[in-house]
Parts: sequence; structure tokens; C-alpha cells
Amino acid sequence: MTLRHFTHIRDLGPEGVERILSRAAAWKGSFPKHLVDRVLAMVFFNPSLRTRASFETVMIRGGGSAVVLEVGNGVWKLEDRLGAVMDGDRAEHVREAVPVLARYADALAVRTFATCADDAADHADPVIGAFRQYSTVPVISMESAREHPCQGLADLLTARELFGPTRGLPVTLAWAPHIKPLPKAVPNSFLLTAAAAGCEVRVAHPEGFELMPEVLAEARGYAQAAGGSVSVTHDLDSALAGSRVLYAKSWGPATAGGPGPEAVKAHPEWLTSTAHLARMAPDAIFEHCLPVRRNVEVSDAVLDSPQCRVVDEAENRFHVQRALLDLLIGNGS
Ligand code: CP
Repeated sequence: MTLRHFTHIRDLGPEGVERILSRAAAWKGSFPKHLVDRVLAMVFFNPSLRTRASFETVMIRGGGSAVVLEVGNGVWKLEDRLGAVMDGDRAEHVREAVPVLARYADALAVRTFATCADDAADHADPVIGAFRQYSTVPVISMESAREHPCQGLADLLTARELFGPTRGLPVTLAWAPHIKPLPKAVPNSFLLTAAAAGCEVRVAHPEGFELMPEVLAEARGYAQAAGGSVSVTHDLDSALAGSRVLYAKSWGPATAGGPGPEAVKAHPEWLTSTAHLARMAPDAIFEHCLPVRRNVEVSDAVLDSPQCRVVDEAENRFHVQRALLDLLIGNGS
């Protein structure tokens, strides 16, 4: 397949998701030098532990190297709005910064978060759009306003390693409380990737925390093509019954007509506990993208249980990103 950029699951589609997951699984335990002389420029608008470390180690172990730029920390603050009068603290426009970086590196990776105040604007993913438009080399999303696609791939690889083929696998994406509204990128990506992999995806959240309608529609299209399904409920118990994967994640309320940002602190019964795991299949696992706020989103007992696979998921970021970089800029690509 030809892959120009990878910023959204739609860049891969169900066939591409399968290809990345298969390659990632096949390469586990081996360290081919497939990125010799390749350079990845990574641009962070927001902090990271796993994303930064996993992409850097993929490049190092593959024989290449990574340049890490933290916007506003030794790097000019970047403006992305076209037509902006740049009389504030943003000294450089992505219109210049992106093509310049593309002259130095074989691929660009970018992390930028959501506003959490305007779902429509976040759905449009303006910073990712600018990188795609102005880069002459492949662009990879390390999380954006709309999606965190590498996370979604790692989440699915983790389930697949334990359960085998994912077609028809019942998985539950459950909202969790938090101290502040968080982006919808991670839940969007779990939903899209699981749907593309043919899972029976059950989304559960309190009223007012609806995911973006465009993302739900896209996921339903993938599910139809891949033999899976997508359902949405406010009843967490029914979404957990017999499920094999509990993916807990907090996200902010719907920004149009939603209950307001303070609502993320409500609904303590949605804090993931062992009582939730008890409603699931006996071999069910727990997933979370990390970082996780213990005893705010998820109880200590769940995170310390043998069912918890969060470290495996984080390791799988390395494996799926290695397969992705091989496809985009590998020495044999
Ligand atoms: N899951 C994830 O993307 O972690 P970081 O924010 O630490 O990169």
C-alpha cells in the first residue's frame, strides 16, 4: 500500500490497520536496522513520556536518529492561523517552520492537543492540516486534537496478542472522571481502530459526554466493512457484561449543549473499580493509554491487578510505530 502521511486512522483504513498490526507482531523480539541514515524530526506542542521515548528509541534501534523540538522551550512558539497578525508571543509561522524542517528530516512527527472548548474546531485538526499541507515529507501524528492513532494501534495490538483475531471481540470504551476536561483524541482513536479491526465496540459514558458525531459515523463505516459493530450507551453495567477489554479514559463534555467543564468531576460511580472488572468475561483485561490519575480515573486495585495491561500497551507503542516508520521511510520502503 502507498502511505503518504499517517495522522488519522482513515489514512490506513481497515486494510492498513491489519498490515501495521501484523508487521508489529511479526517483528517483536528482533531489531532490524531498517531506518539507517533516516532522521525523524519530532515537534511537541505538549508534554509526553511514552510518545517521545518510543519514537526516539524506534529511530535509534533502527539505525536512524531523531531531533526533538519542544515548541516554546528553546524553540520559537509557532503560529498556525493563516492571516494571523503575529504581534503576540508566537514568533514563527508553521507556513515556514514546516517546510524548513522537511528539508532536514525524512519525516516529521507532531503532537498538538485539543482546545477541549470547541469539538468542531478540534474535529478539523488545524495544526495537523497545516503540517500535511506544508510538508514535503511524511507527517505522523503523535496525538492531535481529533486522534491519537499510534495509541489506537498499540491498544489493538495488545488485545490481539491475548485474544487472537479481533473480529467480533466485545470491547468496552468507558468514560472516567478527571480533575479537568481532557481531549477526545484517545477515545476517538480506540473507537476507530477497534471498529476497523472488526470488534464489537461498546461506548459507555454519562449523558452529555457524547463523542464527535463525525467520528462515530466513521467508526460505524469501518465496523460495517470489517464485520464488527459500534453501540453507545449511558448504562456502564450493560456495556461491561461479557466484555473482554475495558478501556477506561476520561474526556471532556460535548462542547455544544454539554454540561460544562466542571461535570468531569461528577459521576464518581464511573471511576473504574474491581466491581467493573467483575461484570466482564473471566479473562477480561484492562487498558488505559497512560498517564493515569490513580483513584481519580481508575482505582489502585484495578491498576495493580493481573488484568491490567497498561505497560504492555505502552511497550506496543514502540512496535506499531516501528512498523509504521518502516512503511513510511524504511530503507526498503
Ligand atoms: N499515551 C501517551 O501518548 O503517553 P504520553 O502522553 O506520555 O506520550
